Amino acid sequence: MGNRDIKRIGILTSGGDCPGLNAAIRAAVNHASLTYGWEVVGIAYGTQGLRDRPPKAINLTVHGMNIRGIDPLLSFGGTILGSVNKGDPFDGGVLEGYHELGLDALVAIGGDGSLRILHQLAREGNWNLVAIPKTIDNDVAMTNRSIGFDTAVNTVTEALFRLTSTAASHDRVMVVEVMGRTAGHLALHAGIAGGADVILIPEIPYSIDNLYRKLAELHDRWQRRFAIVVVAEGARTAEGEMLIQENGKERFEMPRLGGMGQYIADQLSHYKGDRALETRVTVLGHIQRGGIPTALDRLMATAMGKNAVDLVAQGKFNHMVGWRASQVVTVPIEDVFNNSPALVDPHGFLVRTAHALGIYIGELAPDITSLPMATVAKV
Ligand code: F6P
Repeated sequence: MGNRDIKRIGILTSGGDCPGLNAAIRAAVNHASLTYGWEVVGIAYGTQGLRDRPPKAINLTVHGMNIRGIDPLLSFGGTILGSVNKGDPFDGGVLEGYHELGLDALVAIGGDGSLRILHQLAREGNWNLVAIPKTIDNDVAMTNRSIGFDTAVNTVTEALFRLTSTAASHDRVMVVEVMGRTAGHLALHAGIAGGADVILIPEIPYSIDNLYRKLAELHDRWQRRFAIVVVAEGARTAEGEMLIQENGKERFEMPRLGGMGQYIADQLSHYKGDRALETRVTVLGHIQRGGIPTALDRLMATAMGKNAVDLVAQGKFNHMVGWRASQVVTVPIEDVFNNSPALVDPHGFLVRTAHALGIYIGELAPDITSLPMATVAKV
């Protein structure tokens, strides 16, 4: 299908929200209508909007949300279209919804789980699909960054800064639980940027003895009476288990993670070492998903939204736009699934940077410091 056959495209957001989604929607709508003269239809609540009868969708127009000439979509967090990350997308007339809306193509903004489902729907329903990656977990493969990650890193970094002064005032160990599911990118980036003393991530096992030793060393060698310990929600216990909250389980819904921060704090406070540690736990939770997108997230979202529309114009379906070396790239969606989730490389340059700075990041391979710095951390 070439550019001249396209008249009407749909756009939806799927999975957990994050800052920058509206900026991507805005860019896609403006480019599709101004450059190509297409109609754009926003589908409500991801694939749920396609299941409703009639399908739940609204026409999106250039600067449609202007308030006295100001376009708030660039800087609004969340998604004006709504999103869901549960339910059975194969249930009921989702496939037909696309055709009922008279769509010639669909731009889907989602994480790797949503994009995998959408790709399957596209195959079964004969849809023309183009994808844009988003997630604060940053675990979508074939792109260095997904929309929302940079903002979340900044949010966590600021929280660590705020916690440092109160930790120092009370001589406490502040344990901070950070989102990210099975990937430690958010904890690692923010932990380094926020000056953490310890970063525990799912990809690297830890030892409670060495964690305690690190905190004791801070005190004895550097006269530091407080510490900041960043724990990814998906970090595993020393026995290799993840802490899962059972109540949130449904079909097509990932188990909810949580409690690892408290678990580590309890282990530290009951540790039979020379020094009793006073711990406090902060679970940052959904604060990490909100807020004003950073300039980088807005820039990336805008460039990705524009390029996704160009892919539709070129008839290049079943592809995702990505971000590498400050450029938008195009990758086949199947390559994304085959390599997702993209986890932290335990030999990567960020892990080695943390280690070199004396941050305890778990039980690393003994040769970690001698590896060449050029090892690619992700993709
Ligand atoms: O995938 C994004 C994410 O924020 C994860 O980091 C977190 O585990 C999960 O979503 C939380 O999901 P929910 O919004 O359903 O609680």
